Amino acid sequence: MKVGILTGGGDCPGLNPVIRAAVRVIANANGQVVGLLEGWRGAIEGLTMDLTVENTDSIISQGGTILGSSRTNPYKKPADIDRLLDTYRNLGLDALIAIGGDDTLGVANRLYQDHGLGLIGCPKTIDNDLSATDVTFGFDTSINIVMEAIDRLRTTAESHRRIMVIETMGRHAGWIACYSGMATAADYILVPELEVNLSEMCDLLKRRRKEGKKYGIVVVSEGAKLSESDGFVTKDAVVDDFGHVKLGGIGDAVAEIIEKKTGIETRVVTLGHLQRGGPPSAYDRVLGTRCGIHAARMVLKKDFGKMVSLRGTKIVAVPLAEAVGTMRMLDIDFFNEAGEFFT
Ligand code: F6P
Repeated sequence: MKVGILTGGGDCPGLNPVIRAAVRVIANANGQVVGLLEGWRGAIEGLTMDLTVENTDSIISQGGTILGSSRTNPYKKPADIDRLLDTYRNLGLDALIAIGGDDTLGVANRLYQDHGLGLIGCPKTIDNDLSATDVTFGFDTSINIVMEAIDRLRTTAESHRRIMVIETMGRHAGWIACYSGMATAADYILVPELEVNLSEMCDLLKRRRKEGKKYGIVVVSEGAKLSESDGFVTKDAVVDDFGHVKLGGIGDAVAEIIEKKTGIETRVVTLGHLQRGGPPSAYDRVLGTRCGIHAARMVLKKDFGKMVSLRGTKIVAVPLAEAVGTMRMLDIDFFNEAGEFFT
């Protein structure tokens, strides 16, 4: 059996553990694995590398993906689908494991539905916003990076009696902001799922200052809006192959409002791609490894058109169609638990 693997979309810690584990399980069954480079681009252009137990054995601790990644959408040009099908055929693939988020898995689902390719999906994203799974690998590493950064920012904020606004990634879901904010006792957390009340937040920050707290921590998710009538804050008008804008800049806008309304000196830190870089946490190495093992086992059983999914503590198979198209937004009950501290 010959199996392809690709990683698409934004990279995240935990991708290499998936690759390593899938290669091992396929090799144990005397199969052969080939990596398609740079997401769907590699599948279109036939860019490949051989994956063996030997060249993947020590990649468990490496961040990013040894295969490279891109946000290439083969459905943008019908000719690219033909080229992708040619690659699949020419390589003699029996199956393809696509590791990615909603966009990559959406393509995988269409290729399975339209052309009957042996697709298996494996969910990844630091944003933790994929449906049909409880947690995505990458998320745990990311919130630990944010937590460590905020712990450091707290000491300088306190020395200078400042408010620190920390802008996190997460796209349209507030999981990273809410988890990292709760883990660092943030004074306020702004997420895309809830209407932002900036006056309430500024009153709270002023009151805390009066009561003697010498600094403030505000965590804002990049997808939050200043008000319901305002759009997302974006870097520019450019959209990627899947139509996504580049979010970013809400932290600056929030800091400006805080300084104006409270009179307290405020600084902004946008953590950006630091949140996706570096080695995976132990949790993400283990989750990635388990996802890789189960994805490969599904390949061996020819259980195609499915995605590996964490349900409680078990890894199960769910139809790819269930996983794509709808984002898993932040649980509002969870946000309200964090909100107990915003008084
Ligand atoms: O989806 C993961 C993510 O890291 C988002 O949190 C973020 O908005 C986006 O990717 C950034 O993408 P890029 O790497 O294209 O700048």
